[in-house]
Amino acid sequence: MDEPVIVVTRRWPAPVEDELTRRFGDVRLNADDVPLGAHGLRAALEYADVVLPTVSDRLPAELFEGELRTKFLGNFGVGYNHIDTAAAAKAGIVVTNTPRVLTDTTADTAMTLLLMVARRAGEGEREVRAGRWTGWRPTHMMGADVTGKTLGIVGMGRIGVALARRGHFGFGMSVVFYDPADFEPDHRIPGARRVGTLEEVLAVADFVSLHMPGGAENTHLIDAAALATMKPTAFLVNSARGDVIDSSALIEALRSGTIAGAGLDVYEGEPEIPQGLVELDNAVLLPHLGSATLETRTAMGMLVLDNLQDFLAGRDPSCRVA
Ligand code: DGY
Repeated sequence: MDEPVIVVTRRWPAPVEDELTRRFGDVRLNADDVPLGAHGLRAALEYADVVLPTVSDRLPAELFEGELRTKFLGNFGVGYNHIDTAAAAKAGIVVTNTPRVLTDTTADTAMTLLLMVARRAGEGEREVRAGRWTGWRPTHMMGADVTGKTLGIVGMGRIGVALARRGHFGFGMSVVFYDPADFEPDHRIPGARRVGTLEEVLAVADFVSLHMPGGAENTHLIDAAALATMKPTAFLVNSARGDVIDSSALIEALRSGTIAGAGLDVYEGEPEIPQGLVELDNAVLLPHLGSATLETRTAMGMLVLDNLQDFLAGRDPSCRVA
């Protein structure tokens, strides 16, 4: 390929944009950071050799139909359920993602949500800022302890393991986990117990944290029946993908006291968030900040560049997913 035309769909951290333009001559950055939308993405697939999308770009099968110029999609992010990878592969496009570099940062976000919802931190902050705090009193805004409780992990991949380590070694939590995949997670956590079903984790955990991929296989895995299996004192944390939880069922469970609270970083149909969720004090809501540190977002971008460099040199990129 001569000088490839490269489209970056959103703004990237400055060091990565600088590196990209230093290495390549025809880079089309998105200086305004306005999402391209379906039309813009389709156009990019028609005129660019390389498209570098991210989680906020939807790339369903119909976008890959017909004549395309693109040969490489380098996703900025580990999750890629927003891309129909089978359709991309059929169109002859190589797809890569950015695993590993965001593991600790995302596990930190999950731990943040867990602590915030247990200790009512969002609610407390809202009270202080609104000038509604009337002072210390023994019964004010009592939360739940985290130390020594049972942490249930659903999806024991890299991020699940990193959260389990934080819970166990940092907060003395016992860990119980479920993963449908046929592999032995490298967790090295004394006493961590693997169970054979999702329900077994839900039934015993004081905190359930979700770490499986989004997409059809896990859509609404956590529905009304799953929520009813949890303890009424338990909390649910989701830093994976929004569609894993049926949000209507969750709102109902939070309203009725089926579970005690939820800490969420991701949503079905984000950035739209159901009003019912916004109104609930026992829900902590973050704007998909899982990997959002300067260091990690820079590392993610550099990994996209490594994948691209491999592809252009005729090597199989190490983070190839299709
Ligand atoms: C990912 O990489 O998939 C994250 O959701 C982005 O933070």
